[in-house]
Amino acid sequence: MNVARIERKFFVVSDEVGVSAYDFNFDLHFACDHPYRIEGESLCILRVGPIEDYAVEFKEKLEMGLRLVNSPDEHSRASELEHWYPYLEDLTPRTRIFDKLPRVEEIESYFQWPIFMKGSRQTSKHNPDLSIIQSREHYALASERYRNDPILHWQKPVIREFVPLMPVAGSVPGKINPSLEYRSFWWHGKCVGWGRYWYQVSPYHCVDLEAGLAVAKRAAERLKVPFLVVDFAKTLDGRWIVIECNDAQESGYAGIPRQALWQQVLTQVDA
Ligand SMILES: Nc1ncnc2c1ncn2[C@@H]1O[C@H](COP(=O)(O)OP(=O)(O)O)[C@@H](O)[C@H]1O
Ligand SMILES: [Mg+2]
Repeated sequence: MNVARIERKFFVVSDEVGVSAYDFNFDLHFACDHPYRIEGESLCILRVGPIEDYAVEFKEKLEMGLRLVNSPDEHSRASELEHWYPYLEDLTPRTRIFDKLPRVEEIESYFQWPIFMKGSRQTSKHNPDLSIIQSREHYALASERYRNDPILHWQKPVIREFVPLMPVAGSVPGKINPSLEYRSFWWHGKCVGWGRYWYQVSPYHCVDLEAGLAVAKRAAERLKVPFLVVDFAKTLDGRWIVIECNDAQESGYAGIPRQALWQQVLTQVDA
């Protein structure tokens, strides 16, 4: 665990997670110091990958004099579909959240095939077989695998309307087909960075990205989470929608230039 103070403005507690889309070495890019004693209470950002129990983490850091940028409530509102969906219902595909995998009849009473299935936090590494469910038969297989999947089994099952998205060129083996989707980072309602979500394929472009960013901004304004990520995409019929939100502390950078992102955050924080 590396505890660094960045440009004397805030602390970052980080671990090298080993995921190149997530890791960033602050010491290489910014003036950092490593005070061995922390006076009073300082703002802190966690970059340690997925956080198992955020409330515990928050309390632990507070005892060290580090106040994590997002409170436990703000963290849930950012990262659990169950908590952010009520704020964004009109900006994102229609969704139902279940306590356990629903019976097929129940799904059919709300949705038409195909459906999009995920856990309240995430899919199983963007595996299409477990997320884009074509039929009753497919659901029977996928729900069996859901129960045994290490990423999915503990999450609340979520069923969403399948909304065809604008495809982009290229594919990533084993993953959902990439579409015109972007990731945006928000610091207290201000956009501090955005970029392509599918960084693994050839760069794609879009002329009306501003309209997409405006939708993401609406989402950020409603959620009021200090450090938030909003992913948004263009539908095949030309609308911009929110795909999901997350706590920015847990989010990978995707195609976003990292140093510029953190520079923007630094600019927003009073010394
Ligand atoms: N309702 C939907 N209809 C169609 N495609 C979707 C829908 N929701 C997500 N997708 C596609 O699936 C991908 C993964 O879904 P997402 O909710 O972002 O899961 P994760 O949390 O694992 O990243 C998205 O990037 C998007 O391309
Ligand atoms: Mg996603």
